[in-house]
Amino acid sequence: MPHSIFRIFHQQTKTKYQKESAKPHDFKSWPKEWTTVYFKSYPRLPLISLPEIKALDFPLGKALILRRSEREFSGEPLELGELSQLLFYAAGITGKKEGDWNRSHRPYPSGGARFPLEIYLFCLKGREKLAEGIYHYNVKDHSLEQLIENAKLREEIYPEAVWQEMMLKVPLVLVISAVFERTTMKYKDRGGRYALFEAGHLGQNIYLISKALGLQCCAIGGFDDDKFHRLLDIDGEEEAIIYVFALGQ
Ligand SMILES: Cc1cc2nc3c(=O)[nH]c(=O)nc-3n(C[C@H](O)[C@H](O)[C@H](O)COP(=O)(O)O)c2cc1C
Repeated sequence: MPHSIFRIFHQQTKTKYQKESAKPHDFKSWPKEWTTVYFKSYPRLPLISLPEIKALDFPLGKALILRRSEREFSGEPLELGELSQLLFYAAGITGKKEGDWNRSHRPYPSGGARFPLEIYLFCLKGREKLAEGIYHYNVKDHSLEQLIENAKLREEIYPEAVWQEMMLKVPLVLVISAVFERTTMKYKDRGGRYALFEAGHLGQNIYLISKALGLQCCAIGGFDDDKFHRLLDIDGEEEAIIYVFALGQ
């Protein structure tokens, strides 16, 4: 049977490669870049503060039972408060040891706490304080950085980037990228697996929290990577889009 690229990748990343000089449980022997958490930010771009976090009062069991991929949207934009809850409970900073950002936690796990994922928002239907355009979630500040305002973003996405009818009405698209080097610098190519696992963890949070907030959510695996990379001005190699979610009322 011919070997698919996936089979080759899986076979060739069976072993966890680490530096031989770094002992697994002796943190002191680790190079600094293994214990530094990298936070992407765009300090020169306009910042949008997100409203205060409220307690999420929805039974987990109910969210799990009711979770569905929902593709029909009213077209109404999300409220900033809903977005704040969604981002915080899916991906925000939930704790820090001794105030140290390098020992911080999020609602999803990360192999070696390397946190390779970034979240971008494509706002296709704007509202007050959140114009149509592209934003980056600044996880450290729990705020949004506006990368570009673009009232025609929907036309740029449908049908060229995502050929799926739900794109005609969906007000918000969450785009998850991975900065692979954050993980592969420690785990070599096997780290590629970890970044994908983590996107799955994050994705499940997005689904469940959407349900808890009364929003609709659908994972999207079918998208044009290059078109998204161009829109985000990322190279698709150092940092690449790995998962996309449609979200709305
Ligand atoms: C990795 C992945 C990619 C997906 N891609 C799409 C997609 O591009 N378009 C779509 O409509 N649904 C997509 N889905 C949603 C699945 O179709 C859906 O999860 C499946 O039909 C089961 O339905 P449920 O999620 O409502 O239980 C995707 C789901 C996953 C996990």
